[in-house]
Amino acid sequence: MNHAALHPAGPLAQEIARLFWAFTSVTGIVYLIVIGILVYALRRRRTTDPGAQEAGAARALRFIGLGVGLSAVVLVVLAVNDFIGNRRLNAGQVNPIRVKVTAHQWWWEVEYVDSQPSLRVTTANELALPVGRPVMLQMTSTDVIHSFWVPNLNGKKDLLPGYTTHLALIASQAGAYTGECAEFCGFQHAQMRLDVAAKSPDDFAHWLDAQRSAAAEPDSDPARHGRDVFLKTSCHLCHAIQGTEASARLGPDLTHLASRAHIAAGARPNDSANLAAWILDPQSIKPGTRMPSTKLSGEDLNALVAYLRNLR
Ligand code: CUA
Repeated sequence: MNHAALHPAGPLAQEIARLFWAFTSVTGIVYLIVIGILVYALRRRRTTDPGAQEAGAARALRFIGLGVGLSAVVLVVLAVNDFIGNRRLNAGQVNPIRVKVTAHQWWWEVEYVDSQPSLRVTTANELALPVGRPVMLQMTSTDVIHSFWVPNLNGKKDLLPGYTTHLALIASQAGAYTGECAEFCGFQHAQMRLDVAAKSPDDFAHWLDAQRSAAAEPDSDPARHGRDVFLKTSCHLCHAIQGTEASARLGPDLTHLASRAHIAAGARPNDSANLAAWILDPQSIKPGTRMPSTKLSGEDLNALVAYLRNLR
């Protein structure tokens, strides 16, 4: 399962699952004991003998004392457990990969930080990480409060406008996981997902290298025409494609758009038909989205899609 907090794929999520099961089993057992005592009490016969009543009252007092004592012990055990869990989840990570995550209504901007500007990578709605090495996310928001959640890898963390919050992710097995926004943030809160790929260290290095390269040159006449459409209509006012003049950062960076599995933050699979529909009328796919519709002739639209599909 690629979207399940109780199928942890790393030590941090494992810690949360451990806490969940510890709390659920302890409180479940307490519940059963309480119900058992309740049933026992309801089935007891009343007595009218004053001696027996007095003995019963004394026994009830001892019982209540025992119950209070046991409850206190259980609560202390759970509190210590919780404290230990929090310490483990918030421990510093050794040699992490640093990634900036910026939430927008309604998509994720993801930037792999590097002291050398030419080695920085900007992508959208996808996050790759190498198995076994921690990734430290530095997160913020440009508009409202969002919450980052990849249940297989760690718990939720809010992204707040004007603040930076941090969250570590560690994957211990390769795989594809789904992340999502976990705090209501407007119309399209439900379509604010990201694809998370835990790769072997070699695969991750290849992926990062590929992402660092400039956009692929168009390889056909329609694709070349599509690039002109991109640069001469309104597309370049919001989007960047490295290696062209388009460098705006209002919308997702499209340099390697074709390598992504989805468009519009998980709203649709990434294929030609969906891309065309999205460009022509984004509101019909994601009502409220900040992406304006682009009126294009059939030929220009096909050329633009051919160009975008070429951006591997
Ligand atoms: Cu962003 Cu909900």
